Amino acid sequence: MKKAAGWAALKYVKKDSIVGIGTGSTVNHFINALETMKEQIKGVVSSSIASTERLKKIGIPVFNANEVAYLNIYVDGADEINPTNDMIKGGGTALTREKIVAAIAEQFICIIDDSKKVDVMGSFPLPVEVIPMARSYVGRELVKLGGDPCYREGCITDNGNIILDVHNLKIIDAKALENKINAIAGVVTVGLFANRGADVVLEGTLNGVIKS
Ligand code: A5P
Repeated sequence: MKKAAGWAALKYVKKDSIVGIGTGSTVNHFINALETMKEQIKGVVSSSIASTERLKKIGIPVFNANEVAYLNIYVDGADEINPTNDMIKGGGTALTREKIVAAIAEQFICIIDDSKKVDVMGSFPLPVEVIPMARSYVGRELVKLGGDPCYREGCITDNGNIILDVHNLKIIDAKALENKINAIAGVVTVGLFANRGADVVLEGTLNGVIKS
């Protein structure tokens, strides 16, 4: 189902464009698909060291985000997505760079299998990237918001920070929660993508890919 969703995103790739690339097992299928048209695109902007290595290995040029003013699409997976296309992301640790590349792009194409759709987000622990010295303070602030933060052991992000995974949230107003968590001193990024949600969702199911 992830493979079907990844390959379905290929039709959104425009010739001579630069494509925004996310991170994760579903995106890896998209990267495989993109290899089949690598001569027809200029290159990509990548959201993680892991995706960059994979892209370079197959000979797709990777641009620095600072060199690129416009991306027509950003293709990435999600850990949870609700009916209004708000997402939890960051299970794979790349949330900050994912948010940056998504912000540059005109359209966010979200590729998922059918396990990612939920009515209310929060069963998947919400990742928050935090400056290491702020870990305890941010943890206390997240408890005040009703969550149960857990330090992701042994995990250092591509930006040299740590991740707190917030359990037991029931996310009703995703935009408000995104803004509140982002406003805590020491938070680099929260893995809620609500202010900039998905524009197109390609969901791989047993009956094919459903677009919404
Ligand atoms: C990476 O940090 C995440 O945001 C991924 O997009 C998310 O974890 C989806 O991963 P899979 O495609 O592996 O399920």
